[in-house]
Amino acid sequence: TLVGTSQRKNVRILLVGDPGVGKTSLILSLVSEEFPEDVPPKAEEITIPANVTPEQVPTNIVDYSHIEQSDETLNEEILKSHVVCIVYAVDDDDTLDRITSHWLPLIRKAVGEDQPKKPVVLVGNKVDLIEYSTINSVLSIMEEFPEVESCVECSAKTLHNISEMFYYAQKAVLHPTSPLYIMDEQD
Ligand code: GTP
Ligand code: MG
Repeated sequence: TLVGTSQRKNVRILLVGDPGVGKTSLILSLVSEEFPEDVPPKAEEITIPANVTPEQVPTNIVDYSHIEQSDETLNEEILKSHVVCIVYAVDDDDTLDRITSHWLPLIRKAVGEDQPKKPVVLVGNKVDLIEYSTINSVLSIMEEFPEVESCVECSAKTLHNISEMFYYAQKAVLHPTSPLYIMDEQD
């Protein structure tokens, strides 16, 4: 089928989300396979070579910092990315509420209403701090915003679901479940 498939030479993943949710920690945990005690505001852009990614595609991972970057730079990074991970902290409901009040509308606005929607993965970080799940709230967001391809709860601290999170992001680009690009099937 031509619907919902896309071939790419690389996958560019952008992490956004409120201050302190753990964006930088997630990236550094993935790279070093241990939780970094001290993190800079923003991680350097990293490239994961094709042969160590599950989908065999070179993957760029890009951090965002409200301290170091302007709104304009954020818009440019959203446009350059193939998928955006919106990170929230599972122990902080305000960061969950901001997914629908701020981040998803901001991404739609950056992309343009008449353009194909940017795939989004919702990432609930810091599951080491709680004993409940935020997945029910997240599922209702997914119903309202079809660009949300998947969701995952993880912990930069315990490394729980860290590689899965980046795999879901790759998958959202390479095998989207909703037809983000509908090609002309007539010949
Ligand atoms: P900004 O750069 O300010 O936007 O924040 P950020 O989203 O990059 O968060 P950062 O990685 O700087 O982490 C913020 C704080 O949360 C730090 O004190 C981290 O140690 C802590 N933290 C990050 N991930 C986890 C986690 O999985 N569990 C716990 N318990 N703490 C975490
Ligand atoms: Mg940061």
